[in-house]
Amino acid sequence: MTVDLILKEAKIYIGNRVIEAGIAINEGRIFKVAKETNLPSASEKINLSGMLVLPGVIDVHVHLRDQELSYKEDFYSGTCAAANGGVTLVVDMPNNKPITMNSETLKERMEIASRKIIVNVSFYSAFPQDIGEIKQIIHTGAKAFKIFLSHKVGGLDPNDEDKVISAFKEVASANIPIAIHAEDGIFLRKKIEEIGNRDDIDAYLEVHSVEAEVRGIMRAIRLMRESGAFAHICHVSTSEGLKAILREKARGLPVSCEVTPHHLLLSKKDLKKIGNIALVNPPLRPLSDVSYLQWALGKGLIDIVASDHAPHSLKEKDSSSVWDVMAGIPGIETTLPLMLTMVNRGQISLSDLVRVLSENPSRIFGFKGRGQIAEGFYADLVVVDLKREWTIDSSEFYSKAKFSPFDGWRVKGKPVKTFVNGTLVMDEGEIAAKPGNGKIIGWVKRI
Ligand code: DOR
Ligand code: ZN
Ligand code: ZN
Repeated sequence: MTVDLILKEAKIYIGNRVIEAGIAINEGRIFKVAKETNLPSASEKINLSGMLVLPGVIDVHVHLRDQELSYKEDFYSGTCAAANGGVTLVVDMPNNKPITMNSETLKERMEIASRKIIVNVSFYSAFPQDIGEIKQIIHTGAKAFKIFLSHKVGGLDPNDEDKVISAFKEVASANIPIAIHAEDGIFLRKKIEEIGNRDDIDAYLEVHSVEAEVRGIMRAIRLMRESGAFAHICHVSTSEGLKAILREKARGLPVSCEVTPHHLLLSKKDLKKIGNIALVNPPLRPLSDVSYLQWALGKGLIDIVASDHAPHSLKEKDSSSVWDVMAGIPGIETTLPLMLTMVNRGQISLSDLVRVLSENPSRIFGFKGRGQIAEGFYADLVVVDLKREWTIDSSEFYSKAKFSPFDGWRVKGKPVKTFVNGTLVMDEGEIAAKPGNGKIIGWVKRI
């Protein structure tokens, strides 16, 4: 037989080691991984000249925006940015305009996305007002739910304990995860009152304190215990918060956690130096927290690294009052390069990287046939030049958000080709596929 494509002269990360071989791809899937002499003939061959092939990154925390927030990012710009960052599947957050919070808003987002996306996309939904609608949202294709304990996004007040538990129970019965932004809203509001009219970064840090996160995580754990739901704690930034999660995990609670590259690599000091561009929720923390997160990553204690790609306009990042600055960092184009740099520095192993960027996201969120290089799996792949040294420059981002706290960083390791469902979508920084190339994962489209 003749397959669609062969990637030859590759170093392939497969089954926890790197082998020199080729990959035969047919109808969007990995047909065979073998020495070239043992591969079938192909309509097209690409010579990778000894470059390393990894499973494509699955980024479970991305704000693609679009709709009325298209000035910040849209499905096309956001998924081009993903392709440029070696990300083959993103899970889109629901705090949009309109908020993704019922079957109609989810369907509308899926329709718009289907025409624009370059990489695969899956969707979170916020909770609806009527718990009875949860099943319908799942049926429409939401991959997971998202709740902000910090403030109300969607139809469910996070402080309405009984209703939150009922909503969690409903999701638990469908066996899908609930992602939690774990900053305690009541605590945040109390602190805001205490802070009076102070509007500098120190005041912001006093409000969005370590305690706000730890209280949020403790509450998330209580909610999980009472509902039986499976929760994924987003962007853990504190050692105390992470320790609480690890304690519960050891006791058998079905909880997973995520950290971002900015919380792993930047501290409060950088926030003070860089200013509002580095303002994010939860905020950058003291070095002691950063060191603990790095240590935990190296020990395999962190399930997922996700970007929390949160694009804003430059105008929204600039104000004399910190309370008027939009929090968020666009990280989808820097996540893999920064993690490859950590591999090159010897801070983590290549298997650590693949585990937190591809394997665990696939397993935790249930993306069947993705997240690994294996025969029969989808050909979602990233080719990386592990030795290439370069400088991060946000003016070159595909994201509309052309800013980064990592601007000027020398990094080592670059995604040079990205394949999504067997199609080349990014080649040496150029977008190689048409809008609509990506698939919506989970969409039950009824004609
Ligand atoms: O910094 C953040 N930005 N944290 C969030 O939780 C939301 C996000 C956004 O949507 O901009
Ligand atoms: Zn969040
Ligand atoms: Zn987020």
